Amino acid sequence: MQADLIIYNAGQLVTCASQHAPKRGAAMREVGKIADGAVAIKNGQILAVGASPEILGQYDSTDKYDAGGRVVCPGFVDAHTHAVYAGERVDEFDMRIAGKTYLEIMQAGGGINSTMRKTRAASPEQLYKESLARLQTMLMLGTTTAEVKTGYGLDTDSELKMLRVIEELDRTQPIELIPTFLGAHSIPPEFAGRANEYIELVIAQMLPAVANWYAQSSFKAHGKPCFVDIFCEQGAFSAEQTRQLLEASAKLGFKLKAHVDEFVPLGGTSIAIELGATSIDHLDFTHANEIAKLANSETVAVVIPAVNFNLGSNHFANAHEIINQGAALALATDINPGSAPCPSIPLVMAIACRYQRLLPSEALNAVTINAAYASGMGERIGSIEVGKQADLLVLDVSDYRHLAYQFGVNLVKHIFKKGKRLNG
Ligand code: NIG
Ligand code: FE
Repeated sequence: MQADLIIYNAGQLVTCASQHAPKRGAAMREVGKIADGAVAIKNGQILAVGASPEILGQYDSTDKYDAGGRVVCPGFVDAHTHAVYAGERVDEFDMRIAGKTYLEIMQAGGGINSTMRKTRAASPEQLYKESLARLQTMLMLGTTTAEVKTGYGLDTDSELKMLRVIEELDRTQPIELIPTFLGAHSIPPEFAGRANEYIELVIAQMLPAVANWYAQSSFKAHGKPCFVDIFCEQGAFSAEQTRQLLEASAKLGFKLKAHVDEFVPLGGTSIAIELGATSIDHLDFTHANEIAKLANSETVAVVIPAVNFNLGSNHFANAHEIINQGAALALATDINPGSAPCPSIPLVMAIACRYQRLLPSEALNAVTINAAYASGMGERIGSIEVGKQADLLVLDVSDYRHLAYQFGVNLVKHIFKKGKRLNG
């Protein structure tokens, strides 16, 4: 049978295959390794997966790629990013080293609202250009799909501007993007002390505008979801406001996410699980009884150790407890100008293995198949399985564990998105 492309001679073909669900428990330690593996690809999709002799015997192609004994694995899915914003906050880095905390800087008008001012002031072209550079770096580090949040506009027009830039970036560069509306990221200065009124504005005005945008967007046309997210945190939004916004969002057909328990646990976790959120993210201070609820749900736990590392904290989310209790765990960068200026999924894996004691196998499943489910894309991407999109990486090593074992080095040699080679 004819294929468009055959990738063969992969020393380890790491599939991360999972039958129509994210991985849990012991399955997290299984990466689905095939020695001397091969993949046949047609129309951007995976046609067959197996050992090289078998695939080369059954399929033919004018385009054959010899992986030279290297590792081939799924493209990384970054399930939590704030990759679209203007400016940076390198001054806050000095402040934190001098002893100020993230929440103190935020309460003093820095933090998210500082990036909001720059993002509001930026033209769509400027915002596009700055964000494109970030996505290009992420791509070279192996990210082939990324969820991207708004949340630096915090008024209807500026939030829509961010969504349109996300849509334009999705259309014009290789990383596939999944949009998330995070109008409830921070209380904008004009609503200081009036968080309830701001949430009412988000519900009454922004949500319908976003629903309208999404209905006509290329995301909807391509069957991709749009999420609504909220920062449930001291100094941001309460558990009650989280319930209000997420319930209103679900009624309009949005899928749900929430930032929970990053610094102070407020109860958002239970609410988001109860409302069927696709993911809840951070979970640094989540109570054990809420992890048990998570384990009994379809909600994916997205853990973000780059934030703890960046803030110089030695406290990390209890990723092991999440896996042991049977919840689905994903890892993400959270790339943003404050809590995690980090484009690198491999670095996140390296941190998770050292400080959360994940095995490289668990970390790899957490940034591929489970991250795909956390992004509402689990049936299309995140593993090397027949029928899935051919988003693959060739790593310049012969054992996938090098991804987490080495750090500060880019091991990604070639990137294939929908069966097309993007570099080299
Ligand atoms: O996930 N916590 C809220 N949002 C981001 C930080 C965004 C920022 O600092 O600009 C986070 O940590
Ligand atoms: Fe975040």
